[in-house]
Amino acid sequence: MSGNMKEVARRAGVSIATVSHVINGTRAVNPDTKQRVLTAIEGLNYVPNAAAKTLKSKQSRTIKIILPKAGFSYYRDMHLALVEGMLEYWGDKKYSISLHQIDYQNEESVTEIFLHTVDGIMVFSPTDALYQSLIQKNTKIPCVFLNYQPEEEEDENFIYIDHFHTMYKEVAKLLKGNSQSIGYLENTESNSMNEECKAAYRSAFSEQGLPLKEELIKSIPASSDGGYEVAKSWLETNQADAIICNDEALSLGVTRYLLEKRKSIPTIFYATHKWGSLYEHGETIQIPCHKIALQASEMLYQLMSKNEEEVPNSYFRTETIKEEPSYHSVEKANRYIEKNKVSPATKWKQSYHITPEVGWLNDPNGLVQFKDEYHVFYQYHPYGAEWGPMHWGHAKSKDLVHWEHLPVALAPDQSYEKGCFSGSGIEHDHELLLFYTAQDDHNKMKQVQCMATSSDGINFKKNANNPLIKNISGEASEDFRDPKVWKYEGHWYMLIGTSKNQDGRAVLYKSSDLSEWEFFSVVATSNGELGEIWECPDLFSLNHTDFLMLSSLELKGAKNVLLVGNFDYETGKFEKQQVRALDFGRDFYAAQTFQDKQGRRILIGWMNIWGEQFPTQKEGWAGSLTLPREIKLDEAGNLRIVPVPQLEKLRSKKTASPLSQVNGQQSPTDIKGNTLEIQCEFEIGEQAPTSFGLHVRKSKKGDEYTEIRYQVDTRELMMNLQHSGKNGKGQSTASLDLLEGNKLRLHLFLDKSSIELFANDGVASITNRVYPKESSIYVDVFSEGGEVIVHQLIGWELENIW
Ligand code: FRU
Repeated sequence: MSGNMKEVARRAGVSIATVSHVINGTRAVNPDTKQRVLTAIEGLNYVPNAAAKTLKSKQSRTIKIILPKAGFSYYRDMHLALVEGMLEYWGDKKYSISLHQIDYQNEESVTEIFLHTVDGIMVFSPTDALYQSLIQKNTKIPCVFLNYQPEEEEDENFIYIDHFHTMYKEVAKLLKGNSQSIGYLENTESNSMNEECKAAYRSAFSEQGLPLKEELIKSIPASSDGGYEVAKSWLETNQADAIICNDEALSLGVTRYLLEKRKSIPTIFYATHKWGSLYEHGETIQIPCHKIALQASEMLYQLMSKNEEEVPNSYFRTETIKEEPSYHSVEKANRYIEKNKVSPATKWKQSYHITPEVGWLNDPNGLVQFKDEYHVFYQYHPYGAEWGPMHWGHAKSKDLVHWEHLPVALAPDQSYEKGCFSGSGIEHDHELLLFYTAQDDHNKMKQVQCMATSSDGINFKKNANNPLIKNISGEASEDFRDPKVWKYEGHWYMLIGTSKNQDGRAVLYKSSDLSEWEFFSVVATSNGELGEIWECPDLFSLNHTDFLMLSSLELKGAKNVLLVGNFDYETGKFEKQQVRALDFGRDFYAAQTFQDKQGRRILIGWMNIWGEQFPTQKEGWAGSLTLPREIKLDEAGNLRIVPVPQLEKLRSKKTASPLSQVNGQQSPTDIKGNTLEIQCEFEIGEQAPTSFGLHVRKSKKGDEYTEIRYQVDTRELMMNLQHSGKNGKGQSTASLDLLEGNKLRLHLFLDKSSIELFANDGVASITNRVYPKESSIYVDVFSEGGEVIVHQLIGWELENIW
């Protein structure tokens, strides 16, 4: 495989412009830098310039992109996004790009543009002077001008795109019908740009007949907090139902607010970038820069092709821009992932848990054992380490321990979907079937249920009859998602999370052929106690006891719970007897179960929670799944949730600590590492301590650690995160009785940024993400106010599976 210019620039640690100078000899480059670029070109097998090969045919197969050197950040971001789209378009067509960042005020640099033969030129936001000199020097090469309208007559050989107008027009089209009043937020500092953008915004929006409220145009200094505050005041008082942001810092703040209030977000557009991937956020739509770049390139290409035959007698106007059928695709995502994978050696990248190769992960989806292999899918946004248009990521394993990343399974590539939300998987007739929610912001019926199928378990085809369920029953609301499908006595059932009158509930559909679905029942409701919206519901039984599992952000305490009770297939009703937390940690949500071929009920959760900070975003990724846990009833009928025993395969170096008792002090152990399994058993000594426990991920100096403490009088097990490292705060608590003989048994799994703690053989668990220093590897044991006997304390270093 050969690399592209961007990769060369990244590997050599220089800008794309420098790479271009080295290749084209357009400017003297420092010899060391030049050598780095050449080494990168060689290493990546990049074929720099087709020009050399094609000069004879008078075709260079090169496109020149001209953009200004300096600019306000918004301007620059937009240009980067456009360049990215152009690189993609011309790269696919096997054209080289010669990128010129020039000083528009400097005559000489304009001359440089014509030093090399090119087939076409794209110029970003030229000044009048630049436009004039281009016209004078060049009358034959087809040219696209972005963001420029000549005062005098237009030239037939040129295309002029008012890309601000085009952009806002696209945005307005998307908003139409959904928004009544649109807020517009800009950075005070980008003065000249602001006027240009606002003018385009006003004209494009009024052209589309969309309301513009001048009082909702706000200039404030760029800061995330500023964006947050404005979004808060506008949205809480219902002044705006959409926001357009022209500054990344401001849009970050707006997005932060939206993420926190994830439930009722209006549409927001913002001009943030990530080398061109302008991503969607929450119920948001991107500013379509990337799309405009592709279309502008296509227009240039057509103009170039026409020129080959005859002089064109017409030129293309912005009106000819066509609707892109789909912005996302599985192929595009896979290409992106391949190029942008985060190194597994990164500080907090998990070494034996499933995390995204790059980008964002949330809920586990589609858990299934298919043809003897375990498949895990997950909510995935490859293009940024934050939530965005949802894809389904995919990994598989033979043993639930060693996982292998597979290509993305689903991308939001259909007309009825902006995102492929959570759902489940089953094996049926030798096929792997996935059921998911298609989320479409621009449709009244926002969430509909769909199916995709695969015979190899890797490539999925969306069902031609999708959406399978598109009418919300009167028993549900527009939050209507996360289908869990299973078979019972010849019928298929689909459980869906929803709400009614702001009260969470799960509803059930029934089918005999997986294709026609009928509403069957309201399985259970929150009754004002268990949250406003239920997400990711699941229903299963163990030894004749039934369990309804659900996640709800409005739950107090644990946000992912099990209702224990009875489910009646005749009435479709679940009768609840008690409610139990699945895990007492902060970072446990949206869990899902499946039954494997040994009959075990396996549980995997998302090891994060909405609204928290994600320090790993700095590393280019976010989100981890928990370890697979078995959920079972013991002989006495008590529920236990334990890590699957196969995880023993990860064990490498074993350290057994000789510690035998600890009395009122902290005692170091010989166990160390940042990927560890630890087992220990404590017994209360004759003089009982008030509390005792372990410090893990402790620094040498002792200032960083995560504390696991059992408080004897209150019978509580706690994990305290205050000194855990980055973002260290809070404490998770589980009520827990000691075992017979006043004992406490703990079982821990530490990965590079997580701690999973299981107590008393799965009676309770506490799961949290932690972000310590790499060097915080020590473990000690402590007791306060008395003595504990340590019967057993063993640590294993764990293998890195990636
Ligand atoms: C739960 C959830 C689901 C939804 C998905 C979207 O975390 O909100 O209800 O399908 O995330 O990514």
